[in-house]
Amino acid sequence: MLDLPVSAAPLRALGPDRLPPRVVARLRHRPAGRAETALYLYSPAVAARAASDLRRHLPEWAELCFAVKANSFPPVLDALLAGTGPGTGPGTGTGLPGVDGFEVSSARELELATAAIARAGDPGRRPRLVASGPGKSETLLRTLLGTSGGRGSAGRAAGAVDVVNAESPLELRRLDACAARAGQRVAVALRVNPARVRLTGALRMGGRPTAFGIEEREVPAAVELARSLPGIELVGFHMHAVSGNLDALAHLDYVRWCLDFAVRQAGEAGFDLRVLDVGGGLGVPFEPDRRGERPFDLALFGDGLARLRPPAGVRVIFEPGRALVADCGWYAAEVTDVKRVHGEAFAVLRGGIHHFQLPTSWEIVHNFAVVPREEWPAGWPRPEVTGGPVTVVGELCTPEDTLARDVTVDRLRAGDVVVFPMAGAYGYEFAMHEFLGHPRAGRVVVDPTTATSHSTVNCPAPG
Ligand SMILES: Cc1ncc(COP(=O)(O)O)c(C=O)c1O
Repeated sequence: MLDLPVSAAPLRALGPDRLPPRVVARLRHRPAGRAETALYLYSPAVAARAASDLRRHLPEWAELCFAVKANSFPPVLDALLAGTGPGTGPGTGTGLPGVDGFEVSSARELELATAAIARAGDPGRRPRLVASGPGKSETLLRTLLGTSGGRGSAGRAAGAVDVVNAESPLELRRLDACAARAGQRVAVALRVNPARVRLTGALRMGGRPTAFGIEEREVPAAVELARSLPGIELVGFHMHAVSGNLDALAHLDYVRWCLDFAVRQAGEAGFDLRVLDVGGGLGVPFEPDRRGERPFDLALFGDGLARLRPPAGVRVIFEPGRALVADCGWYAAEVTDVKRVHGEAFAVLRGGIHHFQLPTSWEIVHNFAVVPREEWPAGWPRPEVTGGPVTVVGELCTPEDTLARDVTVDRLRAGDVVVFPMAGAYGYEFAMHEFLGHPRAGRVVVDPTTATSHSTVNCPAPG
């Protein structure tokens, strides 16, 4: 049996100096009477910077749509949309734009994305909304088409997305029926599951048997079906195939392959290619120490993209999640107990996988730092681990509730706070909040106005 997460031994915990001072300041004390700490801390400024940074490396023909599933906290969505400048363009010297829109997979995500667009209140800008996800129900499709409401200020039906990425022939027919009933035509991209994907990453959705997309060899038939349905306007293809890839050149090859494939298919079928959605999948280095991971080389990627020549009029959509928000969040949980069982040390948190499930979901070591707290009831012995390995577990009644295994700490005491950096992507959103019914983690902003912090799990972070 594989115990997840995998053992981190002999990895040491991060020093508190690896956390931004604002995060530490927020956690250093718990005022008397206040509930135990179980909190996501977010820096929207870090997210804004990541969005602008990626945007500036993409060519003019590209669009950047943030995958809302990675982080749907409204201040983070606002920051991603705004970027580092107040709507000013590159070269003006006052800041850079953020994302061009959002990728959504549910009615709730659509609601959150449209609310962020409304808050931005920029009538001159029309952020793109793209919908993806396997197994879209008729109810969801109707919502994505906006067939229940009137017309929104941006010209599309209120709440409607611009493109629906269709996953199967049945979904095409269902979409067609919804559109026809509303007297509409819906712009559709077909999600392709390629025969082979030469990308490595933590998760692979394409190039192997998964429920995602239409198998490459069945694409011509799906194209023909789409073109025969009156409610469908086939605009292109969608190819989200991997998550967590750190190899910029391989990603460039992948985009090149997607482009060749899309142009060839559209040419053979004789339809006008307008959209190619190449998905997300850009990774972040969770484990530079243990696995020697290095950051995705955006400059190299951008240089390569600049040499690609999509046909005129084709918009290439990038829809990353993790790469834009991993760094902007920290998950912090107070240690309620420290104990030894069968010779091993455990720190038990006011938290766990019902707040932060990512570490148990794949074979990475998600390292943490300890923020020491001095408050402790007078006269009580304070259990601690010093100079040795500890396994950090949650408060749920299952051994699966383990966030880190065998990480060596200088000192970790009951009452201290354990902080996981790089928790901004698939953190709060990915957790199953209801198991056992403990209170959810709170969500707070640490830097409402300025860019202050940046961190990685196993690398030094500038303060
Ligand atoms: C359709 C789709 N697009 C984009 C993403 C974002 O992926 P990543 O966070 O790896 O960039 C996902 C993630 O699951 C997805 O399902």
